[in-house]
Amino acid sequence: MKEQIIVLGGGIIGLSCALELQRRGYQAVLLETKSCGGQASGAAAGMLAPYSENVEGPDAFFQLCLESLQLYPEWQRTVRGISGQSFEYKESGSLYVAYHDADLLALEGRLLWQREYGSSGSIVEGAALHRMEPMLTGEARAALYTPEESHIYAPHYVRALEEACRRLGVHIYEELEHLEIVEWKSEAVVRAADGRFFEGDQLLVCSGAWAQQLADTFHMNIPVYPIRGQICAYEVDAQPVSHMVFCNQGYLVGKANGTLVCGASEDVAGYDTAVTEKGITRLQNWNKQLLPFLEDQTPFHSWAGLRPATQDGYPLIGPVPETSRVVLAVGHYRNGILLSPVTALLAADYIANKQHAAFNQTFSPSRFS
Ligand code: FAD
Ligand code: GLY
Repeated sequence: MKEQIIVLGGGIIGLSCALELQRRGYQAVLLETKSCGGQASGAAAGMLAPYSENVEGPDAFFQLCLESLQLYPEWQRTVRGISGQSFEYKESGSLYVAYHDADLLALEGRLLWQREYGSSGSIVEGAALHRMEPMLTGEARAALYTPEESHIYAPHYVRALEEACRRLGVHIYEELEHLEIVEWKSEAVVRAADGRFFEGDQLLVCSGAWAQQLADTFHMNIPVYPIRGQICAYEVDAQPVSHMVFCNQGYLVGKANGTLVCGASEDVAGYDTAVTEKGITRLQNWNKQLLPFLEDQTPFHSWAGLRPATQDGYPLIGPVPETSRVVLAVGHYRNGILLSPVTALLAADYIANKQHAAFNQTFSPSRFS
């Protein structure tokens, strides 16, 4: 009989882990309190941008992000192949814009260390910059161009991932409302609000911003907190923006469906996913500064999602302190879409009891206990 793994959470992390477990011969049973992809994963801008998102230096987190970026081309091909569904995956490259000489100095410093880690980036200025992105403001002093960065259309990608899981035989149960973990040390037993029991050999927790709610159950500290990201999209005719464009305030990503996605706030608002006028107006103000053609346009859609932030900014990937039967894969904060392939591989390795010396200390859930 196949070993059965109960996966809690149907965001990009839970679905990616379930897919990988099923491919390795386990029977994955995914339990979702609401609907798959209905939380942070469906709300994301879909950027695969380790160089633009990690500006300080090549720490272990940056290296994990980079490893995942390198897995993406093959990984997304696998999802496309198994699911039979299409989604946008664009190797667009990115431009990180500087308005002033001081910002440019910082970009030059970043480029120095990022070149050591696979970036073939360069600083572009003046006419060259405006040839690359003609709608960009003339006030841009320069930009750091990183060709290696790409993006996917997250809502379609997550849907394809779910379909790939179903086609490979993952058992998916949604709208379970409340789940109680009845047993986790000798086996995994979970009871749903409707009285159904789900039993497995091991438990993999991928419940994103809700992970802290299981701290008492596993007798440990799980410092994962929801940080709301408000984000909006403009409708554009022929897509006028071909690279992902970053600045110190946020980012803009042009999608093939004729939308320009602009994000995002970082709000402490508990589990509230409402958008506020203040939050979206702030985005609009810097958007039109960066792309002046947006001056007289209004976003046609705005939404918000809850990023799973952690106390030290790193995810929790690995077994809980009391047993290797329970593995956590939570706390991916701003980079869960990017980190999903590498997380799936690591989590599946932990389920199989393999060790990852380079990463297990840094990302171990035990580090807070
Ligand atoms: P989620 O997608 O939130 O999934 C967790 C799931 O668990 C939910 O469906 C929830 O209902 C369920 N759940 C909760 N409790 C339980 C329980 N007890 N049992 C079962 N199920 C449970 N990342 C990038 O890499 N690139 C980006 O461009 C990017 N842009 C973003 C933009 C915004 C506005 C936001 C909000 C986030 C962005 N992110 C981005 C971050 C990314 O979305 C998250 O890191 C990622 O989605 C986290 O995935 P997850 O599966 O852990 O969480
Ligand atoms: N990574 C983009 C965001 O979290 O808003």
